[in-house]
Amino acid sequence: MATRILTGIKPTGIPHIGNYFGAIRPSLDLQAQGEAFYFIADYHSMTSLFDPRQRLEFTRGVALDWLACGLDPKRTVLFRQSDVPEVTELTWLLGTLAPMGLLERAHAYKDALAKDRAPSFGLFAYPVLMAADILLYDSNIVPVGRDQKQHVEITRDLAIKFNLTYGETFVVPEPKIRDESAVVPGLDGQKMSKSYGNTIELFGDEKTLRKKIMGLVMDSRTPAEPKPDADKNLAIQLLKLFAPAGIALDFEHRLRDGGLGYGDLKKALFEHYWSYFATARALRAELTANPDYVETVLQDGALRARATASAVLKRARKACGLE
Ligand code: ADP
Ligand code: TRP
Repeated sequence: MATRILTGIKPTGIPHIGNYFGAIRPSLDLQAQGEAFYFIADYHSMTSLFDPRQRLEFTRGVALDWLACGLDPKRTVLFRQSDVPEVTELTWLLGTLAPMGLLERAHAYKDALAKDRAPSFGLFAYPVLMAADILLYDSNIVPVGRDQKQHVEITRDLAIKFNLTYGETFVVPEPKIRDESAVVPGLDGQKMSKSYGNTIELFGDEKTLRKKIMGLVMDSRTPAEPKPDADKNLAIQLLKLFAPAGIALDFEHRLRDGGLGYGDLKKALFEHYWSYFATARALRAELTANPDYVETVLQDGALRARATASAVLKRARKACGLE
């Protein structure tokens, strides 16, 4: 059987280059290596986003971004998580085997507690829903950023426990973490994240994005001063994502030796970033002008996803004596 590759993106904001290099690009590169199922995790977005209009808008935006960046909907199944409600039933089956202690150690829940927010049942159950997402499609490989590794490990634990309790039912998946540039830094140098407001969007208005990049905060050393720590410079780190290796290295050397001003470096960063996404930007504009197309792709994806999901759910229901 072909290797099944599955991943999801939450529609909680406008996708940024951290999402692109951490999730979208590696997933697209994997499309050709098996049977890919990629979805928009709108149920998961409900643990942190409470505006229905925004949810619809972001969901559509994520679909557009994925298609614009090269997802081939003939080959890959692109769908909305909530179009396959079977996942909620599987969440219950898995939840009955999920130890509270395991879920209490999950980062998202621990972070919410630390920030003194009263976490909801949904947030606490987040890793169980994610396990259901993965197990419902007999997934072999789950490409994710490093921050999601723990969730895939919880999924493996739950699959193994279900198999031990009720007999071989689920495929135990493997995470696939991209190592180079596994964590893309944001405008402030911390991990780029929608929740930190430090993002560079994948697509957007040229003026705004140029302003963001030109606004990167550097230190106060003069252009002439040599900078032995040039490889740690945020603009250099970001440039390495967009520029050919030789060019990025050349900028790094010029910064290290002295003589390259931060303004010129940031200008080069913007130009490389902007041209890197030029083809995708043009395709996105075309797709945006044709809203029916995106909806057709998602509905076709839902049909194909449901065919697999209902078979796996039936297997699980039989295993635990529900039918
Ligand atoms: P955010 O932190 O912006 O809310 P999500 O949690 O929606 O992003 O992440 C969607 C996907 O993008 C996940 O697979 C995640 O690992 C990946 N990702 C998010 N931010 C980064 C980053 N800064 N570097 C690498 N990958 C990232
Ligand atoms: N929790 C993931 C994130 O925040 C999104 C997600 C939901 C996911 N279900 C998944 C990723 C299943 C991989 C597989 O990015």
